[in-house]
Amino acid sequence: MAACVDILGLCLFGLVLVFPWGAIAADEDPLQDVCVADLNAQLKVNGFPCKASVSASDFVSPMLRQAGNTNNKLGSNVTAAGAANFPGLNTQGLSFARIDYAPGGVVPPHIHPRATEVLFVVSGTLRVGFVTSSPDFTLFTNTLYPGDLTVFPRALVHFIINVGDTQALSLSGLDSQNPGASLLPNVLFASNPTIGDDVLDKAFNLPESEIEKIKAAVKG
Ligand SMILES: *[C@@H]1O[C@H](CO)[C@@H](O)[C@H](O)[C@H]1NC(C)=O
Repeated sequence: MAACVDILGLCLFGLVLVFPWGAIAADEDPLQDVCVADLNAQLKVNGFPCKASVSASDFVSPMLRQAGNTNNKLGSNVTAAGAANFPGLNTQGLSFARIDYAPGGVVPPHIHPRATEVLFVVSGTLRVGFVTSSPDFTLFTNTLYPGDLTVFPRALVHFIINVGDTQALSLSGLDSQNPGASLLPNVLFASNPTIGDDVLDKAFNLPESEIEKIKAAVKG
């Protein structure tokens, strides 16, 4: 096995060794055992300041007990527990979500700017996919059954659809206390204020009337 991968005349193996680990981890490492988020603090820091006094109840959350209501346009419902709604997660570098799906329900193409996601199927049949960045834009897609795991690499566009004829449930772990979610339909066609038609016309090679239709449909 080569100890050194030659890229642009540099030794990649050597580069990895000198690269500061903090820069390639998802969230910063905690500097104390616990730092339960003080959601009312005035101070702005990277994350949340720690609450002065904590108790066992800071480290439990019932928020994923109930299925999300999937009776909506997408036929899916993401219930996500991060540091902002489960303060015990503050500084721990991860978050968790349940996703409920009606038959045919979709989680539209989106990005988590700060996290890789690992998804476990509890029930139902899901088709998932993610797309690599330029220049290849390769789609990797799989059909998942109960007990299956998949991974959506950090910051890559991914989507999920329930292709079974029953309700489905999946659970996800994400390696950030605040992974963020950029839903592409919203980012592109329903931002505040919206991206100008002059930009979108050229980006999508469509006349303004078609862009306006898409904007209306995404907002509707
Ligand atoms: C998701 O489910 C919760 C709990 O039933 C509900 O309050 C919320 O409105 C649902 N979200 C969507 C987008 O339907």
